[in-house]
Amino acid sequence: MNKVKVNIKINQEYISKAVDANILLSDFLRYNLKLTGTHIGCDTSQCGSCIIMLDDKCVKSCSVLLAQCNNKNVVTVEGLGKIDKLHKVQEAFKNNHGLQCGFCTPGILFSALELSMRKNQRSEYQIRKFLDGNFCRCTGYHNIVKSIKSFLKEKDLVNEKV
Ligand code: FES
Ligand code: FES
Repeated sequence: MNKVKVNIKINQEYISKAVDANILLSDFLRYNLKLTGTHIGCDTSQCGSCIIMLDDKCVKSCSVLLAQCNNKNVVTVEGLGKIDKLHKVQEAFKNNHGLQCGFCTPGILFSALELSMRKNQRSEYQIRKFLDGNFCRCTGYHNIVKSIKSFLKEKDLVNEKV
């Protein structure tokens, strides 16, 4: 297998190494770095459970080669918050019962974060539409939407960068 050199920042840590040219970002995160919070639900770019942030944009990591992430910044759910210091979006989901089994949750947290960067998208319809690419088999979405609304409201109130 051809090797390519990548320089990448993942959850604030710099990694510089030669990797297989065809390794997916999702596989690298899960199997090489053991960052198993990035879930793989379909491997065909549909379910959204593998979404991470790549340079402040949500991407489905099962559809991106690690080699395409050269010189980029990746954040996975492990880099969002810690068990004793949750990120505000995680707190909103916790407080509003926005998850059940949690399989879809890492991807949905990042979708909520990206949505929060779009100032003019705050209606329930817009939130539901934005979640088009995130499948949840448990919740019926009601409390997910409630959690995102609560997060967006708090973020607007404190006007802070998340
Ligand atoms: S595993 Fe990537 S979209 Fe389903
Ligand atoms: S909480 Fe189980 S799939 Fe969403």
